Amino acid sequence: MIRQAIIPLAGLGTRLLPLTSVFAKELLPINGKPGIEYILDECIESGIKEIIFIISKKKKIIKRYFYNDKFYKKIIKRKKDKRIIKEYNKIKKYKKIIRFVYQNNPKGTGDAILKTKNMIKNNYFLMILPDDLIIKSNCSKDMIYIHNKKKCSVIASTKVKRNTVDRWGIFSKGPYINKNNFYVKDLVEKPNIKNAPSNCAVIGRYILPKKIFGKLVDQKKGKGGEIHITDSIRKLIKEGHKFVGHNFKGKYLDCGTMNGYIKSSMEILKI
Ligand code: G1P
Repeated sequence: MIRQAIIPLAGLGTRLLPLTSVFAKELLPINGKPGIEYILDECIESGIKEIIFIISKKKKIIKRYFYNDKFYKKIIKRKKDKRIIKEYNKIKKYKKIIRFVYQNNPKGTGDAILKTKNMIKNNYFLMILPDDLIIKSNCSKDMIYIHNKKKCSVIASTKVKRNTVDRWGIFSKGPYINKNNFYVKDLVEKPNIKNAPSNCAVIGRYILPKKIFGKLVDQKKGKGGEIHITDSIRKLIKEGHKFVGHNFKGKYLDCGTMNGYIKSSMEILKI
């Protein structure tokens, strides 16, 4: 059963500077709602009961967003504004299921995940990268369905333009299970065009096994000097652990870049 989700939020967000010099990118509004709330709603709808936020001292603003009860109570007492009451109730609902853990020195996604090692209860958990919004369909829910059927790890996949493969984790595919799901043969973090085994990229939704922590503990730095989850997944695949690549149905919005962030508000408006 997948009951826990983890979300790495300690990244510096340099691709969104100057906004991120004073603000957390995950709180930036997309059509009036902070990006992170779309991810929280996706988790809750998928049956997730606990969400672990990996933040840093520099990104304490994220914790403050969910822990501002005194402020809300004061305002609500003065102004009986229905909208504010509704928003406060929503934030209280999120707060109940969020736990925090710190990664003060962002060394990559793999290192972030390792910080949650002692908090993971079941054999599998969900990991979501907050820059990657998927709208119009609940990708996590569909992945949990596949996990329940196949009892293995699952990673979200989409086709990307060949000339952008060096921006993603790229799949090498094994046999197809059905039209939208295949076994992953290998996975390479940000390959150059010449070495890329395909143009199918990892998008930030992963159902990972608890076993991954055994690999992350001594995972060496990879591309760009960061500790990548991709490299530990690769090790598990080489040892015979099954990973399914899932071509998800919804629309992917890359909110980690300024262009993508701007476009995402427009796309959400169209729904
Ligand atoms: C990360 C992962 C990469 C994945 C991408 C999806 O890269 O390392 O494998 O394809 O997210 O957004 P980042 O965006 O941190 O450079």
